[in-house]
Amino acid sequence: MKDRKKDHIKLAEEAYVGIDQLDPRFSYEPLLSSHAEGVDLSVSFLGSKLVYPIWISSMTGGTGTAKEINQNLAKVAAKYRIGMGLGSIRPLLDNPKLIDDFAVRKYIGDGLPLMANIGIAQLEDIILGHKYDTLKEALDRLEVTGLIVHVNPMQEFIQFEGDRFKYPPIDTIKHLLDLSDYPVVVKEVGCGMGPESLKALCSLPLGAIEFAAFGGTNFSALEMLRNSELGSDALQGLSTIGHSADEMIAIVNQLTTSGSSQVTDFIVSGGVSSFLDGHYYTDKCEGNTLYGMAYRLLKYAESYDNLDQFMEKEVGGLEFARRFIRIKK
Ligand SMILES: Cc1cc2nc3c(=O)[nH]c(=O)nc-3n(C[C@H](O)[C@H](O)[C@H](O)COP(=O)(O)O)c2cc1C
Repeated sequence: MKDRKKDHIKLAEEAYVGIDQLDPRFSYEPLLSSHAEGVDLSVSFLGSKLVYPIWISSMTGGTGTAKEINQNLAKVAAKYRIGMGLGSIRPLLDNPKLIDDFAVRKYIGDGLPLMANIGIAQLEDIILGHKYDTLKEALDRLEVTGLIVHVNPMQEFIQFEGDRFKYPPIDTIKHLLDLSDYPVVVKEVGCGMGPESLKALCSLPLGAIEFAAFGGTNFSALEMLRNSELGSDALQGLSTIGHSADEMIAIVNQLTTSGSSQVTDFIVSGGVSSFLDGHYYTDKCEGNTLYGMAYRLLKYAESYDNLDQFMEKEVGGLEFARRFIRIKK
């Protein structure tokens, strides 16, 4: 009894929340819903119906645990009826024997979006080398819905052995669209994209744009950590460059409402730290919007059970938010 009292006092101290911790984005409406009320969170994305507006952002392939991680991610996607992006298939293009790392259609099942992923530098090589057939063959073998192209000039520039682009990525993407019957999605890798790039992308018949905004895992910062070359700290400032998800939402909303966007589907990702961010972003962004997570899922992805438990809490939290938490206008 004495110990319990002590615990209460100690925990009350720990649970004391400062006013500065209040999230100003939301209003909490405890009176107007019930826990039992059904909520429909479904959204149409790339022509499929997803039960939750959640996307598993591109991560892995071609490394030791990639196969298991991708299979776990695909199984969880199947259970919760959400979509997923594979990590870059560059290793597979170099070594077709790696197919098992990436071939997860049998786990995710038919009818859910599963996207392959390739870097813009490799895509440029493929297009300049007239090797689109090789890429298409890989997409066919993987039975994917389409292809995500990651556009990462800053990461490549900072990376010690990074690639250099011969042409502006927008031209390479236009070439791809001329060649490909597969839906194409374009993303960054954690820096987001500015207004002119988004405007250029929105003028194309893309399947979707994934933000990979600034504020979460940042591959420019990551390459800075990997690059131990003398003098590389001169580039440090680059890890502060990019665009937040909020800023990018404002830009695409403006393009959408003015009728100047051909793109209707968006994945808001990059630093999505909880279902509350997801609740907020999917409400704010016009169009068919999902929220995407990479790092938060990777932490659990080596174990299906851990990943499943995380996802159960994530979708439960999102359902709770839809019932009781509103976005301030
Ligand atoms: C381990 C790891 C590997 C990644 N590999 C890829 C990749 O192959 N292709 C890609 O487009 N993005 C890749 N990303 C970037 C993510 O898709 C995402 O854009 C970025 O991590 C920001 O999301 P987050 O803040 O939720 O982690 C990777 C991220 C992580 C953490």
